[in-house]
Amino acid sequence: MSAASKNATVTVDGKTRYHEPAPAHIDVEAFRQTVISRRSVRKFTATPIPQAVLDDCLDMALLAPCSSGLQPWEFYVVRTPAKKAKLVKACMSQLAAKTAAELIVCVARTDRVEEFSRKMLREWPMPDVPKLVQRYYQLIPYNYAPGPLNSFAVVKKAAFAVGGLVAAVPRGPYTSAEVRLWAAKSTALACENLVLAFRAHGFDTCMMEGFDEVRVRKLLGLPDEAFTVMVIGAGERADDGVFWPQIRFERELFVHEV
Ligand SMILES: Cc1cc2nc3c(=O)[nH]c(=O)nc-3n(C[C@H](O)[C@H](O)[C@H](O)COP(=O)(O)O)c2cc1C
Repeated sequence: MSAASKNATVTVDGKTRYHEPAPAHIDVEAFRQTVISRRSVRKFTATPIPQAVLDDCLDMALLAPCSSGLQPWEFYVVRTPAKKAKLVKACMSQLAAKTAAELIVCVARTDRVEEFSRKMLREWPMPDVPKLVQRYYQLIPYNYAPGPLNSFAVVKKAAFAVGGLVAAVPRGPYTSAEVRLWAAKSTALACENLVLAFRAHGFDTCMMEGFDEVRVRKLLGLPDEAFTVMVIGAGERADDGVFWPQIRFERELFVHEV
């Protein structure tokens, strides 16, 4: 059951509003254990991942936050032996790929913005689509269309640069590179959900960007507007599956209160 279907409305300032209360009893220690016990595992045992676990993890991946709610991702669980063998090779025959019970190719797509904007308006989860929301999803496809040779992007950038002299304006994503980055950000968040979900189920993963993008594209028959963000190997951690203790530099290098 989705979170939304369990919820009701609340009256705020005399107006009826959607109400989804923050759950109070999340076990932070269980979450912390999931996060801190996640390691990149490079060697897995031969134990398979039950289908129900795999499905649950993928479902949790799909709940990751995503820009404008547009879910610019796809996950290919590569099972066919011949395809899997090719994928292992495309992953430079890394041990993490060779020994993984499952190999999941995580793909970002930039070509479904218009289709999903329309779908969003059709499937809006409340009886009426607010005017602002309607307008937003009508505009978004234009916003994310770079045009031939980034021609639309150049015009939009120039226009917003002028507007930006007097007010805060969106500076992108306009160019095709920016739109790819846009899709990759949300896809990477789903990847993190996926690996944490596997960990919570007692399985482990290795995110891999060490792969031959051209070979993976060919193997999956991906269109030009899709690209592989990472390949995730998953399985049961072998006793010698983690190669060294986790390394993280001093907190001060990364966390700033300004
Ligand atoms: C985007 C990304 C790509 C990665 N690619 C590889 C890879 O190709 N092969 C590999 O063995 N590890 C890969 N890793 C794992 C990192 O090396 C690992 O996360 C890092 O060393 C920190 O270790 P930890 O994950 O155990 O905390 C990748 C991690 C990320 C986030």
